[in-house]
Amino acid sequence: MCGIVGYIGPRQAQDVLLDGLSKLEYRGYDSAGIAVYDHGDIQVAKAVGRLVGLADELTQHPLQGSQGIGHTRWATHGRPSEDNAHPHSGCASDFVVVHNGIIENYMQLREDLEARGHHFSSETDTEVVAHLLEEYWTGELVSTVTNVLKEIRGAYALAIMAKQDPGKLVAVRKHSPLVIGLGNGENFCASDIPALLQYTRTVYILAEGEMAVITKDAVECLDLEGNPIQKQPFEVTWDAVAAEKGGYEHYMLKEIHEQPKAVRDTLSGRISEDGRHVLLPELHMTPDELRNIDRIHIVACGTSYHAGLVGKVAIERLARVPVDVEIASEYRYRDPIVSDRTLIMVISQSGETADTLAALRNAMARGNQVLAITNVLGSSVAREADDVIVTWAGPEISVASTKAYTTQLIALYLFAGYLAQARSTANDDVVAELVRELSSLPDKLENVLEAAPLIQSIAESFSTWDDAFFLGRGLDYSVALEGALKYKEISYIHAEAYPAGELKHGTLALIVDGVPVVALLTQDELFDKMVSNVKEVKARDAYVLGITWVGNEEITKSVDRVLYVPRTIAFLAPLMLVIPLQLLAYYASVARGNDVDKPRNLAKSVTVE
Ligand code: M6R
Repeated sequence: MCGIVGYIGPRQAQDVLLDGLSKLEYRGYDSAGIAVYDHGDIQVAKAVGRLVGLADELTQHPLQGSQGIGHTRWATHGRPSEDNAHPHSGCASDFVVVHNGIIENYMQLREDLEARGHHFSSETDTEVVAHLLEEYWTGELVSTVTNVLKEIRGAYALAIMAKQDPGKLVAVRKHSPLVIGLGNGENFCASDIPALLQYTRTVYILAEGEMAVITKDAVECLDLEGNPIQKQPFEVTWDAVAAEKGGYEHYMLKEIHEQPKAVRDTLSGRISEDGRHVLLPELHMTPDELRNIDRIHIVACGTSYHAGLVGKVAIERLARVPVDVEIASEYRYRDPIVSDRTLIMVISQSGETADTLAALRNAMARGNQVLAITNVLGSSVAREADDVIVTWAGPEISVASTKAYTTQLIALYLFAGYLAQARSTANDDVVAELVRELSSLPDKLENVLEAAPLIQSIAESFSTWDDAFFLGRGLDYSVALEGALKYKEISYIHAEAYPAGELKHGTLALIVDGVPVVALLTQDELFDKMVSNVKEVKARDAYVLGITWVGNEEITKSVDRVLYVPRTIAFLAPLMLVIPLQLLAYYASVARGNDVDKPRNLAKSVTVE
């Protein structure tokens, strides 16, 4: 995955491009580059590593000009290197291209182009586009691009500039996100909205198979054949500061602290005035269709998958529909047993995760109804699904997902309640209790956040160990999985989540004197069993942090440290537990001196397989 940005207008393009790329670094950060057009020439600057390297290079050797394109890369084809960094040119520097995605048939194209005398200077799939532009040059950029697009297969968002056709950028979208920013006497394109917010809030979100011809005074939208299409601009309502760190040391910490608000926003408008019912006015599914569902497949990756595990319990318990939760990269390649009564739910913060999107498309092709839960309104998932529940978490910049998870849980609980109402599977009072407890969550989450200093001291001592274990039963185990993922993702410490009852079937062998164990103890009916498991690890001298409901004094006899969370119904415990686990991972990462927001080898949104 990569980030692309383009600018044309009166400002120095270099400054706008660097600024835009800094908001897209979450999409990839192993190299970066820009190309700027000025007086009949295109100058390119590239640097390996973080954007700061490119910024230093440009401070020493600025590129003058008010039209340009830029790129921040996350390597897929070819290692991170200056040659492989974008923008790419053909044999001459007449065309420059930045690309996000994968050109699937690039090997064949490259062989053909080399046979026709083209010389390649990178290992990337992208470079074929620049050479094809040379081959198909009609004397004008738009028709040349439409000809080139007929040759390439795969997923791409492209921004292209030609020396012989100045004053123009062409931006193309096919299976990779792209937005166009509309300014006054200046226009922009970018992979994501935060890159534009400093300059404009009026955007076109390009749909699949759309192209924009961008000059400083106008933006024309076309299909990939070059036929004009009409689009409605979209007004972005996020505050620009919402995409900044807002005084926190890292985006992750800011996003952890935003959870009470994100939960409140996601609940807003979805609870009836009498506070007893769930409203999901955005859903098109009729009550008959809801009653007709006989099975649900929840499909997602990573943290979103973990949210799905909690959703399964909520939906099965309230709506009495069997739910399978599947990892998208597995699901898309198997032949799932579905009927026309199976509802497919996809969960994706970004709405662009390649495997989740593929699972969605397979389901649509089979004729299944698809309901998406996503945080990005203009994303592919949001636009392609039959129905969408948006999580109003606001932009999540840190690679480690936090507020997206909590708001996904809210969306899942709401949907479970809504489905139960339609199917009359839960007593009115049960749904009313769910709604009441959901409404009380923001204040309780504020309360959990107050434990941050205590969690920091525990995390600092845990961070000296190379292993950690997260144990739970039932719903606590689902959250343990998320806690372990967060911990390993940003602290780089090996972490395992285990259903506590399984320990003695193997993992107990790894428990040694002092090793950190986090035991989650909120499922009342499983509490005694969980305490027995805690005793098993204590007997091997593990150091146990127990997380449980406030007022549970009993537990102090069995663990080394206790962290209390405010009480809610056991069913909603994941929302209370996940914040301490996010903070534990965050402070362990800080203690180890890691780059919290951009953990090694990872990117925010995985738009390639
Ligand atoms: O955007 P998505 O929700 O589809 O992303 C799925 C995963 O890549 C994501 O949740 C990942 O696991 C997080 N970085 C974990 O913190």
